[in-house]
Amino acid sequence: MTDSPPADAPTEPTLPVARPYSPGLEGVVAGETSLSYIDGAAGRLLYRGYRIGDLVERGTYAAVAHLLWTGEWDAGQRLPTAEIPRPVMDVLRALPSEAKPMDALRTAVSAWGSTQELPWPPTVEQARALTAFSPSALAAFARLRSGKDPIDPDPSLDLTTGFLYQLTGERPDPGTARALDAYFIVGAEHSFNASTFTARVITSTRSDVASAVAGAIGTMKGPLHGGAPSEVVDQLAQVGSVEHAEEWVRDALARGERLMGFGHRVYRAYDPRAAALRKVAEGMEHKPDWLQMAIEVEDVALRVLAEKHPERPLRTNVEYYAAPVLMGVGLAPDLFPATFSLARHAGWTAHALEQAANNRLIRPDVNYVGPEERDLPG
Ligand code: ACO
Repeated sequence: MTDSPPADAPTEPTLPVARPYSPGLEGVVAGETSLSYIDGAAGRLLYRGYRIGDLVERGTYAAVAHLLWTGEWDAGQRLPTAEIPRPVMDVLRALPSEAKPMDALRTAVSAWGSTQELPWPPTVEQARALTAFSPSALAAFARLRSGKDPIDPDPSLDLTTGFLYQLTGERPDPGTARALDAYFIVGAEHSFNASTFTARVITSTRSDVASAVAGAIGTMKGPLHGGAPSEVVDQLAQVGSVEHAEEWVRDALARGERLMGFGHRVYRAYDPRAAALRKVAEGMEHKPDWLQMAIEVEDVALRVLAEKHPERPLRTNVEYYAAPVLMGVGLAPDLFPATFSLARHAGWTAHALEQAANNRLIRPDVNYVGPEERDLPG
């Protein structure tokens, strides 16, 4: 205990002068990574040096996940979905059918963690096991909520094909499977976004990989992060037709609303993931009938956003074209954010590995802006 000053001592201001603070930590360097590089000004995204466009065209999600976890490129990698442990299935069955899929997925990952030995530090095997488990869990929840039985994994199928099979009971055609795999590749990793940062903070406490991913899913649930693609579908439905686009966009901005699928903390140029997914969407056999409208509405939105925000380039982000791809592969819009989370498992777990390999507890400072030290009233 320290001695108290005499009661009649003059009170000196005790609060330190505020240090520079960047709201939202914009521009603050909070770590180092060799997993991905985003060049926001030029609209470039590299995973361990490889261009995202090349990975989408020539890679698979299994190979990309392996690349992120190990740094090695092996195009022949396989990653089937995994069995759901019995206690986790019991938890999924106990959820209300109206539970949000993101809540179900977060709960499933948490329950899975309680069934596993996940000693520190996290390993590639742990990363692989969790990434392979979660698609089975989401597919099982989606079936249970509509009164259907879950479907066991088929080990002959890779992760995205297996996920669609466990969701629908049918093996998807190669074009559909390929489109979802491309979506998973572009969703796999994106540097220090909010959910990944959450995963790294959790890992930095030497907590386990299931806790890190459960926390990351909670972060991604927010509409400013992973909730956008289903809202893209809603907004396009409200626009209704290209003729109404300009009026709708102007009214929405006048009401202070945000256009979903536009703007990004890092990209000032066109998001390269949006460009890759637009190609995938346009090449799909079963594309939604509103894709052409979406392409035309995008032009209108970009023009009006440029006019309203000449100071801040607001371009199309990945979520805009994620929406038609996910609709095209037959997913219900309320599954979009959780499906994005499945894709991001590779990145989250790779960041957990990277954090653990060179760990220091993440504990930033804050400027205190409350009252000076004072006496309780009375
Ligand atoms: N529509 C309209 N205005 C926008 C949009 C948008 N989509 N995005 C940014 N702005 C405006 C803001 O209103 C703000 O203007 P103001 O200063 O006059 O208030 C200005 O641009 C800067 O916006 P910030 O919120 O400070 O930018 P930030 O970097 O924090 O936001 C974000 C990035 C959250 C993605 C934002 O652009 C947004 O809300 N977009 C819509 C949601 C969306 O598409 N999210 C998916 C992002 S991609 C991903 O997470 C995978």
